[in-house]
Amino acid sequence: MALRNIREFGDPVLNKVCLEVKEMTARNKELIDDMFETMYDANGVGLAAPQVGVLKRIVVIDTTGEDPLVLINPRITEQDGEQTGYEGCLSLPGKTGIVTRPNHVKCEALDRDMNPIEIEGEGLLARAICHELEHLDGHLYTEHLEGELLDTDSLTDDDEDDEDAEEE
Ligand code: NI
Repeated sequence: MALRNIREFGDPVLNKVCLEVKEMTARNKELIDDMFETMYDANGVGLAAPQVGVLKRIVVIDTTGEDPLVLINPRITEQDGEQTGYEGCLSLPGKTGIVTRPNHVKCEALDRDMNPIEIEGEGLLARAICHELEHLDGHLYTEHLEGELLDTDSLTDDDEDDEDAEEE
């Protein structure tokens, strides 16, 4: 495994539409392993392949540090409810902003072995799924900001306690 370079806001690779994954290859397995290592190293809760410069529909998420989730060719099939809170992105280090997302989503995808799975997420997991899936179509949370993009340094302690002040 190896750390990969996280592409930052302004890099055109972050605005491209990613391609479906047709088969699990050794190269894709290595990419997934590297994405987890890179995400954990950066203290993130989610990472999408284009954030490491690879235009494939692969996302990794772990909102608790104990639930590593691989989503290949994912799509959201149901969403309801609403949550409004701070969101961040590993491609915009040190920045955060308020975004409203569904509070509950269902997502169909393939797992690491290319078997179909259905994931249900609430709260932070729902937010992370929405955020990461958008990366696969070249979109960033900055498109949904309510108010200004803020420096995480400018938040008060109370704001930082917000469970959604995570980087994805
Ligand atoms: Ni992100």
